[in-house]
Amino acid sequence: MGNPTKEFWDRTYREDPDFFGAGASSLARSSLGRLTREANGGSLLELGCGTGRDLCYFAQHGFEVAGCELSPVAAREANLRLSALREEVPPRSRVTVQDALELLEVLPAGRTDVVYSNLFFNLEIDADRLRRMFRNVARVLRPGGLHLFTVRSTSDPWYGKGTRLGSDRFDPGTGGPPLRFFDEPSLRQLTEPEFEVDSLREHSEGGPEFPVVIWSAVTQRRAAPSSSRP
Ligand SMILES: C[S@@+](CC[C@H](N)C(=O)[O-])C[C@H]1O[C@@H](n2cnc3c(N)ncnc32)[C@H](O)[C@@H]1O
Repeated sequence: MGNPTKEFWDRTYREDPDFFGAGASSLARSSLGRLTREANGGSLLELGCGTGRDLCYFAQHGFEVAGCELSPVAAREANLRLSALREEVPPRSRVTVQDALELLEVLPAGRTDVVYSNLFFNLEIDADRLRRMFRNVARVLRPGGLHLFTVRSTSDPWYGKGTRLGSDRFDPGTGGPPLRFFDEPSLRQLTEPEFEVDSLREHSEGGPEFPVVIWSAVTQRRAAPSSSRP
């Protein structure tokens, strides 16, 4: 049996490889200064990198990037884009077709400088997998390593649309994947055991055809886990 989520993303990127925009996202552009100051030329892992708009941007700014994608169509396009940049980017930049949690669970501990994702964690419906992802992001990061991400907010216009699947999760019924929405307490609960929250900002994004409200988070792996993990 096929995987409907993977098939949805394959179809989306086949129809439009720039579905999320041709240039780097606002998270990538607004993070570059901080990343360059604290992890210049370091290793950056992107979860759910799509066709690689942000990975190419970070690679062009000297980061040793790696990405993972559920969609083979997206991964192929991202790898083509990275190889087209050739001498401009570090040579080992690569995207693998892999579930992000499976990858995070096998990566070595404490070796990555930055884990980054844009509108990725809001696609994880299973609460246990979501917790394991955050724990493993902390595990693979070096102490002081940065974890930057955006997720959809409970103030998003799509919140509450479609079929309710549980607390803050809905299937919009558009053929796209189910979505998870976050508020500040749920984000703090996920991040604070392992990360110092440097900034957590709720803001609007997207054009008039598809306005969304998202949280942008900049967090830093603590040297030792906080005792608040239940
Ligand atoms: C909302 S899109 C954003 C893509 C990209 N971050 C961007 O901003 O252009 C989320 C991406 O995550 C990928 N994805 C969803 N679940 C995944 C998983 N469990 N492991 C790896 N990739 C996943 C999807 O295929 C999709 O390309």
